[in-house]
Amino acid sequence: MKKQRNIMVQFTLITFITVLVVSFGLGEFLARRIRENLINTHIELLPRIVQYAAEDHPDFYVFMQSYPELGPSTDVEDFFYDLLTFGSITRLKVWAKDGTIVWSDESAIVGKNFSDNTLFRRAVGGEIVYSYRFSRKEENIAETNKSIILEIYTPVYKGNELVGVLELYESDSQLYVNIQKNRRTVWLLVTAAGAAIYISLFLIFYKIYQFQKQTSKRLLQTQDVTIFALAYQAELRDIVTGRHLERTSMYVKILAEELSRDEKYRSYLTKDYINDLVKSAPLHDIGKVGVPDFILRKPGKLTVEEFEEIKKHSQLGHKIMTKVEERLTFQSFLKIAIQIILSHHERWNGTGYPAGLSGEDIPLSARIMALADVYDALRTERPYKKIIFHEKCREIIISERGRHFDPRMVDAFLSRETDFNFISRKFMDDHTASSLSDVGSTAFS
Ligand SMILES: [Fe+2]
Repeated sequence: MKKQRNIMVQFTLITFITVLVVSFGLGEFLARRIRENLINTHIELLPRIVQYAAEDHPDFYVFMQSYPELGPSTDVEDFFYDLLTFGSITRLKVWAKDGTIVWSDESAIVGKNFSDNTLFRRAVGGEIVYSYRFSRKEENIAETNKSIILEIYTPVYKGNELVGVLELYESDSQLYVNIQKNRRTVWLLVTAAGAAIYISLFLIFYKIYQFQKQTSKRLLQTQDVTIFALAYQAELRDIVTGRHLERTSMYVKILAEELSRDEKYRSYLTKDYINDLVKSAPLHDIGKVGVPDFILRKPGKLTVEEFEEIKKHSQLGHKIMTKVEERLTFQSFLKIAIQIILSHHERWNGTGYPAGLSGEDIPLSARIMALADVYDALRTERPYKKIIFHEKCREIIISERGRHFDPRMVDAFLSRETDFNFISRKFMDDHTASSLSDVGSTAFS
């Protein structure tokens, strides 16, 4: 469930970030294209306007050819100031062919020569030159603090003869307003489209998620009942059936949770692991399906040979579940089930079966199962044995600390013995309860 919630969060985050990045990238890309289009339009239009305007002012040519002997007439200055009021033009520099600035609204540079300016040199060669990254040239000291985005050098001709270069500066204010307006519109549109896509995808994804959640729940339930049916089938063949499988699963859960508080087991006994462990517990005696009925159902004490037959249930169960597990293509809880089935009769001191493993060579899952299984067997009435009360079970388990049981397991049991006793009473088998009623319920503690 947590994983599924994480998928929803991941989906939301990924979609959100993607929309944000695409929106920003597309907005930036379109804004750049708009800026380039605007600039290109200006670069195409301004030189033509300048040329036409110059042809309307014959004095301009006289001024360009006679400078510095003759200053600009009123008509020529009107022409220049008219240009300065056009669009977003904020500065005008009129260059003679030798690189001298013969007129500008910035009077400080008039009369100075900047013939080494490379842009001017290209313009005086007949090329329309522009720059929209304002360059810090010496002749631009007066414009340092102005927000200029476009600088155009436009050659001016009289007939076919180049008479000079007019350099126009455009403030970015007008251009910038247009660009920003367009950029904002693009961002808004792309973000709105992204949000619409996100909402549509979210609705589809959410429906799929709900469907998948329900399917998973049903599958898990089916898996649980299948496991229980399988385990119960083996249990039914025994002489006495009851709620052994339910109780042992609960004891296993209590022990695992108690152990998970220990630094040593914390990283191993995760919530998922404990769930798998609890799910696996009912399968511990699945191998009993292969033990002959006359032995399993024998009411009296077993002979040595019969007990040897019973002991085979660990390996038989292991064989069954290994075959089942081999058919799976993913890592499943059956790995834990197989450990439990094979090793739940091993003993800490190495005297158990089938392999005679000892200590921590016995898988932790099987060590947990061993104590849960024995406690339940002691607490349950059988045709060949009476019920053993909790206090006595406690004594037996303590006496087997470091012998049958992992010492740490016994400690965990003692920490939670009240819960063990409670479960053994609450989920007692009917036949155990009826025999107890004969001796009085106060005797059961
Ligand atoms: Fe067993």
